[in-house]
Amino acid sequence: MSTKLYIKTYGCQMNEYDSQKTLEILKQDPTIKETYDLYDADIILLNTCSIREKAEEKVYSELGRLKKLKEKNPKLKIGVGGCVATQEGKNIYKRAPYVDLIFGPQTIHKVPSLIKQENKIQAVDVSFPIEEKFDSLPAPEATGPTSFVSIMEGCSKYCSFCVVPYTRGDEVSRNPEQIFDEVARLIEQGVSEITFVGQNVNSYRYSFKGRMLSLSDLIEVCGAIEGVDRIRYTTSHPLDMTDDLIDVYGYVPQLVNHLHLPVQSGSNEILTKMKRNYTREDYLQIISKLRKARSNIKISSDFIVGFPNETNKDFQQTMDLIEKVQFDASFSFIFSPRPGTPASQLEDKTPPTQKKERLQILQDRIDYFQRRYSKELVGTIQRCLVTGVSKKDSKQLQARTECNRVVNFDFQNINILGKLVDINIIEAYSHSLAGKIFNPEERYSA
Ligand code: SAM
Ligand code: F3S
Repeated sequence: MSTKLYIKTYGCQMNEYDSQKTLEILKQDPTIKETYDLYDADIILLNTCSIREKAEEKVYSELGRLKKLKEKNPKLKIGVGGCVATQEGKNIYKRAPYVDLIFGPQTIHKVPSLIKQENKIQAVDVSFPIEEKFDSLPAPEATGPTSFVSIMEGCSKYCSFCVVPYTRGDEVSRNPEQIFDEVARLIEQGVSEITFVGQNVNSYRYSFKGRMLSLSDLIEVCGAIEGVDRIRYTTSHPLDMTDDLIDVYGYVPQLVNHLHLPVQSGSNEILTKMKRNYTREDYLQIISKLRKARSNIKISSDFIVGFPNETNKDFQQTMDLIEKVQFDASFSFIFSPRPGTPASQLEDKTPPTQKKERLQILQDRIDYFQRRYSKELVGTIQRCLVTGVSKKDSKQLQARTECNRVVNFDFQNINILGKLVDINIIEAYSHSLAGKIFNPEERYSA
């Protein structure tokens, strides 16, 4: 008889990576099979996020629903992992006593033994044995043509608003041999796009055979591996956007024309209060260097609106930066005070309605640039990675441009799945593009 496992993931790419790895770790037991049906599961794991209050509340409301399943089936095992687990630890049992195990982002390799643990207090492990975690990861299992590869864990930047250093621990970079082994195994299984992930991915540093390796070295080596058609990395910090990393855009063609580089605010006063350790001028200089290395690179960002006592002038500085950089699709959030962070202690007189207004103004402007870029793509030929069947129309395939836009198109040959193809963009919609394969007979005849 098999044991059915259901994993629900909240939050960032690091959590997506961890969920995939947890699945691979648990599937080493051949009796464990993945299910996508919550009601059919024998084990339910929630891989949680605590970056903002809303994300955390979602977890507790999901746990409320799971309580009913546990009442019907007392043998059901419920586990809470991820950043809420580290933040709350065994206190989760107070709000949800029916939870069976609690594990952190750095103890996913211990889940098989925690599941078997009968003593609930011993079924809690939210420590940070990051190297042990990397050493314990099984061979990766590809799930499609694109895959994440974790190159570092944790964050040592301690931005004043952010909970991550407390929930994921300080930065630890991964041994490059493990990284390239994982890349090679994924390529063997048909993966063609690698995304290096890390909470602060460009702070990667590893002393290897007498040399200090950085992210630019990983990109260069990865670009030389046959079968690696595309390389991405996320999420970067502006402070670690060193010249060697910018230069690599000039000579590794597989590195995409898109960079997600969170700026958070365009006001130097707020950046200082956020403890970001760069100024708006530093940020603009990085963008200018990047555009010299790759003239058509698209930049997206994260913004926090309504940081304690953000003035109108501060907000206008952010809007001015948006005009200067002309960001592509970005993420923007209202500041959410997180437990234990210095910014949560700051007095804040800005009314919530004003914060909401500012967020709307910012999002409208970014949407404008996003739509404008999409329209500019109409009539151009874009090199796209074919990622699967279109969600809207099963007679179409779906591909992604370098700046991560979805393109739906008709196809004659399913063998192009997972391949790079040239697509003529014919229409731009708000969340996707429509295209036609460029010269299919010449290039992709079976
Ligand atoms: N490495 C990235 C950087 O350099 O900024 C940080 C990634 S962080 C995990 C993801 C995003 O969540 C941040 O960029 C920030 O915009 C947002 N965020 C983090 N803490 C927040 C808070 N307390 N309130 C609102 N948004 C927050
Ligand atoms: Fe958070 Fe700042 Fe690190 S936003 S993840 S503490 S770079």
